[in-house]
Amino acid sequence: MSEADAFYITTPIYYVNDVPHLGHAYTTIACDALARFMRLDGKRVMFLTGTDEHGQKVEKSAQAAGEEPQAFTDRVSRRFRDLTVKLGATNDDFIRTTEPRHTRASQAIWKALVAAGDIYLGSYAGWYSVRDEAFFAESELSKGEGGTRCAPSGAPVEWVEEPSYFFRLSRWQQPLLDLYARQPDFILPESRRNEVVSFVKSGLQDLSVSRTSFAWGVPVPNDADHIMYVWLDALTNYITAAGYPDTDCDIYRTFWPADVHMVGKDILRFHAVYWPAFLMAAGVAPPGRVFAHGWWTVEGQKMSKSLRNVVEPFHLVDTYGLDQVRYFLLREVPFGNDGDFSQAALIGRVNSDLANDFGNLAQRTLSMIHNNCAAAMPEPGPLGDDDEALLAGAHGMLGDIRAMMARQAIHEALARIWTEIRAANGYVDRQAPWALRKSDPDRMATVLHVLAEVIRHVAILAQPVVPLAAGRILDQLAVPADARDFRALGAAGMLAPGTPLPKPEGVFPRHVAAGAAKAS
Ligand code: MSP
Repeated sequence: MSEADAFYITTPIYYVNDVPHLGHAYTTIACDALARFMRLDGKRVMFLTGTDEHGQKVEKSAQAAGEEPQAFTDRVSRRFRDLTVKLGATNDDFIRTTEPRHTRASQAIWKALVAAGDIYLGSYAGWYSVRDEAFFAESELSKGEGGTRCAPSGAPVEWVEEPSYFFRLSRWQQPLLDLYARQPDFILPESRRNEVVSFVKSGLQDLSVSRTSFAWGVPVPNDADHIMYVWLDALTNYITAAGYPDTDCDIYRTFWPADVHMVGKDILRFHAVYWPAFLMAAGVAPPGRVFAHGWWTVEGQKMSKSLRNVVEPFHLVDTYGLDQVRYFLLREVPFGNDGDFSQAALIGRVNSDLANDFGNLAQRTLSMIHNNCAAAMPEPGPLGDDDEALLAGAHGMLGDIRAMMARQAIHEALARIWTEIRAANGYVDRQAPWALRKSDPDRMATVLHVLAEVIRHVAILAQPVVPLAAGRILDQLAVPADARDFRALGAAGMLAPGTPLPKPEGVFPRHVAAGAAKAS
């Protein structure tokens, strides 16, 4: 994996055949949360995303739109780039496969595969799914409506017969099995790993890696009739961005092999079988991990244009708020499982976890400090058992969460933070600082200081997922910008008594469903 203090994470590069939807937003948000976490934990991070612009699918979409492929991809790619901004993604690079740096890298890996003796010229006769951009054996197909043949994804297939270069994938069966054994966490979640291992064990066919029946792709070196198969071209983006073929450059030496390729479950085989085989054949180290996340349905149904239920991420963020969308997507389902998106579930999470639990804790603590402690950080006195127990929970969070994030268990990390938030709300109810105001103001000051310290921990650790609100809470605690990373968690005395605090304001409004306000 990349150097010990470095972390390289990638999203898949998104096809520009259509505009972005919830699925794309999901992968980007998950990677962004992991990238932000690692940065706050002191790592040098490279977070890559981008667009996959070649292939038959994109060419056909450009034709359908009546545009030249390059003009079409320029336009749609811009929409994906705008989405990264809308989602608050902190990607360090945005790669497009139509860039010259990528043509260079793709042709270089091709030449390395030729030099290794792993490419030969033959001809392909078989089934191809343009929607999946994948070849299928007859045995993998099923009968769709009207007797047409369909790929496992449900996409129609067409018969293709053309001269083609092949990659000797069959030769890489054992080295792949050795890789999975040597790096037991190469594929996560574990159930996905088992699927891939049995697929590879069942035997690998050589793979067609060039096309001749259309032209929208990277030209094969030394054979102008062929363009590279779009998946070989696309997968190479991960090393293009690291500077390949210049393997001596700083960025490559620091960041390659990537730590995590994040992908949806539908494209795991390309990443966990073909990609490491291409890399090993080209003499390049394979990545540290491929994590396959699940798929979202919408109100119980597959998201599709024909059902008119495609969730549009720009609108979603405008309606519910960025932090709210990020939190919901990462908290609602165990990361790796499938999930169902519904407005009701989103509003439920926003109101219960964000407004009631986190928002309320911050709001009532900060308002009490503002009203009863002259708007300055209170001075704590001696601590009792209840105080110590709550603080111990807060101090234990980083260690627990680090272990969870190291295996991309983002939902567990959030659950851990929310355990602390709920413990703190329980502590407020038990300690009733409002009642101490007259009877024991010193004790009230201690309770409020303990709460402020817990909120500081929670907000610092919640930044990767809810960066805007967490930042505003840290502002309200007067935590300086350079004391918001994880080094500040262990440090004592970060909330200096007497520090003036700004006027508190709520950061997580309750969401009232459209129409509901009127009815109530
Ligand atoms: N271009 C390829 C990836 C090449 S990577 C070298 C591709 N692009 S895609 O735009 O079709 O899909 C991008 C990602 O979105 C995939 O990881 C896919 O799993 C994910 N999703 C598409 N629909 C989804 C849902 N409904 N739910 C969750 N993720 C989904 O594949």
